[in-house]
Amino acid sequence: MIFFLFIVVLLVAYFIAHRIFVHRKTFTGTSKLYGKTVIVTGGNTGIGKATAAELAVRGARVILACRSKQRGEAAAQEIRTETGNDAVIFMQLDLASQKSIRSFAETFLKVEPRLDLLINNAEHPHSRLSGSVYRGAWLFCSLLSFCMWISATLTTANMIFFLFIVVLLVAYFIAHRIFVHRKTFTGTVKLYGKTIIVTGGNTGIGKATAAELAVRGARVILACRSKQRGEAAAQEIRTETGNDAVIFMQLDLASQKSIRSFAETFLKVEPRLDLLINNAALAAPGRTEDGLGMILGVNHIGPFLLTSLLLERLKECGPSRVVNVSSCGHDLGTIDFDCINTHKKLALGSSDVDLFRAYANSKLCNVLFTHELAKRLEGTNVTCYSLHPGSVRTELTRDINEWHMRIIKAIMIKFWATDPVSGAQTTLYGALQENIEHLSGRYFSDSQLVQVKPEARDDGIAKKLWDISEKLCGMA
Ligand SMILES: NC(=O)c1ccc[n+]([C@@H]2O[C@H](COP(=O)([O-])OP(=O)(O)OC[C@H]3O[C@@H](n4cnc5c(N)ncnc54)[C@H](OP(=O)(O)O)[C@@H]3O)[C@@H](O)[C@H]2O)c1
Repeated sequence: MIFFLFIVVLLVAYFIAHRIFVHRKTFTGTSKLYGKTVIVTGGNTGIGKATAAELAVRGARVILACRSKQRGEAAAQEIRTETGNDAVIFMQLDLASQKSIRSFAETFLKVEPRLDLLINNAEHPHSRLSGSVYRGAWLFCSLLSFCMWISATLTTANMIFFLFIVVLLVAYFIAHRIFVHRKTFTGTVKLYGKTIIVTGGNTGIGKATAAELAVRGARVILACRSKQRGEAAAQEIRTETGNDAVIFMQLDLASQKSIRSFAETFLKVEPRLDLLINNAALAAPGRTEDGLGMILGVNHIGPFLLTSLLLERLKECGPSRVVNVSSCGHDLGTIDFDCINTHKKLALGSSDVDLFRAYANSKLCNVLFTHELAKRLEGTNVTCYSLHPGSVRTELTRDINEWHMRIIKAIMIKFWATDPVSGAQTTLYGALQENIEHLSGRYFSDSQLVQVKPEARDDGIAKKLWDISEKLCGMA
């Protein structure tokens, strides 16, 4: 919301500034110029040509003083045709040559009896002035032009505009520091002998989290849906960290069969589980293998079932933790139990906005699931936390297709996102920070405890969601 507001303020500021500094008032004077003679230097193009044309319309004799005979004569002809004023003529003048200037003046004074208006419009042809004869003059003119530009620019209106831009930039950097930048987790805890599952550990925040856990000596299971991507990521982390105990195990959260099979294999082959990080999520349309809305199935029901199946092992290995990666988007979420019951979805529709709504709802489910899980784990050695990782450059928005959402996505990624390593810091905090056991069930952002909205910590809603989740994965 703050970001959108920021964009709106930026656009309004742009339009006001454009109106003040770019838009020009039209000259409405009605004076006629019959009998007057005007010289416009550089009158063959741009502002000079437009000025000359308007003076011709008002009846003046207009001399286009230009360096190029061909371009000057063409412009004079064009103005004559357009305005019906035949007294528009070309005379050669090269301001980069004092000889040419003298010759122009001489001829002009000889053939033209009057001069009422001299418009020095032509820009200095820098390329020619940089020649050896005029290098001194060019430097002098440039320095003078720069001084003139500074004095012209520092008008009160422009000062206010610059100040406004500076304030805007400072505001952006402060907001970026507060909302995007993530504090680095500085805990030094080692994890030798610990086993950790990271779902979706093959890319983005999950991969950065897994790498840091591997550095600290843990046995890390990357639970991913793609064998190829999962194995490649495991290999990469092994090579980078020198920890050979990083392995891939297949888990597709869009299939309850796959989740059960993963849990069964894991419990058979791995003696311990110290930390379960429910990180994987998506914002894609479609249905899971079990007929649930994709976002409901992968982002909430999948982690719910996986956690339930592994809970006994976590209890056996306590103190242990469950970390659920949610999002600040949960704040925009609601839980429509009728929609879940009737359609097995978190929101209807398939536009990008509908998907975002379902995604926000699923992230609210993560917070409520953590809240209820903590209550059910009271008296055990297992604690759980949910969190917002920040705004992070990852593949999460890969299924966004509509053009306006693509624009928002591009702006967000460019100006409002951090890298996955930074995005992993709050997950690491929830997973490894010492002495936060009394905060089990709570939500963190930027490694700090944050109070969620009442709906996200409502015992009744959390219990109802738990019951319906059990039903949807055949546990009730
Ligand atoms: N990025 C952000 O700005 C942001 C902000 C707030 C919260 N988050 C949360 O952070 C977590 C990580 O997201 P990310 O940004 O790192 O996104 P990401 O780069 O898209 O990573 C998501 C991971 O989830 C996996 N995944 C998707 N569907 C799956 C399925 N059916 N079964 C198993 N794994 C599946 C993906 O696997 P594939 O590679 O095979 O697709 C990928 O490994 C998510 O919970 C997200 O909601 C992210």
